[in-house]
Amino acid sequence: MTRGKFVVLEGGEGAGKSVQMGRIREILPHGVFTRDPGGVETGEDIRRMVLSKEARGIDAATEILLFLAARAQLIAELIAPALESGKLVVCDRFILSTIAYQAYGRKKLEYLPLVKSVFEAIHHGCVPDLTIFLEVSPEVGLARARARLEAPNRFDEEEVAFHERVREGYKKHLNDYGKSAVVNADNDIEQVWQDVREALQSAL
Ligand code: TYD
Repeated sequence: MTRGKFVVLEGGEGAGKSVQMGRIREILPHGVFTRDPGGVETGEDIRRMVLSKEARGIDAATEILLFLAARAQLIAELIAPALESGKLVVCDRFILSTIAYQAYGRKKLEYLPLVKSVFEAIHHGCVPDLTIFLEVSPEVGLARARARLEAPNRFDEEEVAFHERVREGYKKHLNDYGKSAVVNADNDIEQVWQDVREALQSAL
């Protein structure tokens, strides 16, 4: 059995990731679609905990370890078995989110070696074949995120400078884990979709 392909969609707040995930799902109905943190029961439990307002102000190392714990379970329970059985897996966020948000956004670059070494220990070969990075300028992305009806999460509430650092983190580490494609997500949905589709076609 040949290993399936693993595609990750990344981006800052308001990059339009959910819309693009929906479109990918329509053209790849046989794929396994999941999200990080989350995807499996324990992962969703950790997601609720780490994104809740009550977790505001938790220690930076605790936050990192919670995201990594959710990812470890998602990989072991869902991503690794799906790839082994030849399926295509599409994941909303993955390792680069932790690098961008926790190390760069939170200005904790000293934790980069921890993030990277824990990931080495838990990935079981599940390194993305392609990461599509929806690059949005923080002003555009935050305005979109704040216009949404659902309640903002803890990260939507961070200041513009935080999101500038997140973007910088993504750009610096984009090629650390498999191939990547950058899509300008300041553009309108249809243009972004065309670019996402092209990136997918060249990788699959
Ligand atoms: P999500 O609903 O996926 O956010 P968005 O709608 O912006 O995609 O919520 C996940 C939030 O968690 C998002 O703000 C980014 C953050 N996050 C981290 O800080 N570190 C991580 O490792 C991951 C996976 C997500």
